[in-house]
Amino acid sequence: MLFNPTSALALLLSSVLFYTVVRVIYNIVLHPLAKYDGPLSWRALRFPFVKTMVSGDLPHRIKRLHEQYGPIVRVAPDELSFTDPAAWRDIYPQNFLRPREYKDKPPGKAAENLISASEPDHGRFRKILAPAFSEKSVYEQEAMTKGHIDLLIRKLHQTIDTDPSKNAAVVDVLQWFNYATFDVIGDFIWGSSFKCLDQVQSHPWIQIIAQFKVALIVGAFKFYPPLDAILTFITPKSAMADLWMIWKTTEDKISERLTRSKGRKDVMSYMIAANKASSEYYISRDEMEINSMLLVAAGSESVTTALLGATHYLLREPAKLQILVREVRTTYPEEDDITGVSLNSLPYLNAVLQEALRLCPTIPDGMRREIPKGGAAVAGHFLPEGTVVSIPQWATYQSPSNYYKPAFFIPERWLVEASDASSLYRNDRKDAFNPFSIGPHNCPGRTLAYLEMRLILAKMVWHFDMEIPKGMDLPRWEQQEIFWFWDKEPTKVKISNAR
Ligand code: HEM
Repeated sequence: MLFNPTSALALLLSSVLFYTVVRVIYNIVLHPLAKYDGPLSWRALRFPFVKTMVSGDLPHRIKRLHEQYGPIVRVAPDELSFTDPAAWRDIYPQNFLRPREYKDKPPGKAAENLISASEPDHGRFRKILAPAFSEKSVYEQEAMTKGHIDLLIRKLHQTIDTDPSKNAAVVDVLQWFNYATFDVIGDFIWGSSFKCLDQVQSHPWIQIIAQFKVALIVGAFKFYPPLDAILTFITPKSAMADLWMIWKTTEDKISERLTRSKGRKDVMSYMIAANKASSEYYISRDEMEINSMLLVAAGSESVTTALLGATHYLLREPAKLQILVREVRTTYPEEDDITGVSLNSLPYLNAVLQEALRLCPTIPDGMRREIPKGGAAVAGHFLPEGTVVSIPQWATYQSPSNYYKPAFFIPERWLVEASDASSLYRNDRKDAFNPFSIGPHNCPGRTLAYLEMRLILAKMVWHFDMEIPKGMDLPRWEQQEIFWFWDKEPTKVKISNAR
């Protein structure tokens, strides 16, 4: 019998169609999650979820779905999304693993990073890194951190000085915060900064690593394993060339660092020390590279987002900006008195940062985990193994069940007085708020993040009066697209020397 390509294709298509129809009926009617509500097409197939994800709208859509369906929504045949605060402790401190589709690492290295590693390797990396991120180690790096922030402030003063008649300048704070956070994190990890502030330009490594949009689209292929397999062959050579450049820079940074045995402690010091002290916690050269790359990406973008979010909302609410300005300038008549430790006890500054993390969570989407063998309960619902579960921070923090006037910038909800019986915010669900997550995969960079955020914001308001430039407007934060992180738009701010 002769092979007929047309009939073979027709047979293939009809088989796919038949399989899809059976699958759809099963997912809607017989699936163990069939009793959970959500849009019909999302319950039937994974495709609407993936399509919305690559369009940058997924966390926004999930927020709207929660508004429509309540605190539990079935967002894909095998996935539930929760905005009930009780789900935090049921999901994240347990040993629920990241689903395969979310265990990402950039191609080009065989070694694993914190995100992609098996649990034993993840535990090994966390043990090696823990002392580098302790309160003590982070505060030992305060002078370095301040050095970069002071340079940021000096450079901003220089932009004002270019036209002395105006005593003001319009600057894109997104760009400046990016320079500062990348310089700090490079120095914190490798003991050498990217020199973005020095040269007033972004480093090519940073421009490429910030291509979250591309990474997310590539990640979407993982939902369709046959397509995933051909991805390596269809990826343009130019995209890989960019990646080789990142690896080369990372390799050079690490080679250079390994030749240095003296000087200030950085994260690399702890990796090197682990290799000397005990073979149980050995970390290979490739693992050093791939993990330090992750740390740089995770530790810069996130702090920039929180700072930009805080600035954004303060500019929209000048009265609240004034409360912060007053608090900082009266607490510190001299700039030299501003220290990381003393900033911890500034109530309004810390309330502003909490509120910024609530309104602009750096990971607005759900951090997905899979229910393990034997099933488990989440927020009072027993779920079968393999179910994907998560708390989407954006939807959870915008839920009126969790916060009074959730869409509004109200730092006051984080002040001590907010728990008074007469306070409007007394019923706010503080337990819904975990911007750094909880459990074994929580954020190791929390202390560093707070140190940077407090220092940068305090120094900005100590040095400059800030306002929205006349005739311009800020981007609408809540309308920005999200590709894992907010796809942040340039944010022009008028700064002038503080009066
Ligand atoms: C405002 C700043 C920050 C926020 C809100 C934040 C938030 C988070 C969250 C929510 C996670 C959990 C992600 C998940 O489970 O999928 C996470 C993980 C992580 N963060 Fe942060 N982060 C911040 C700053 C930093 C900094 C400064 C560093 C490093 C220097 C850092 C390094 C990491 C790493 C390496 C992980 C992965 C941990 C693991 O899987 O074991 N982050 N972060």
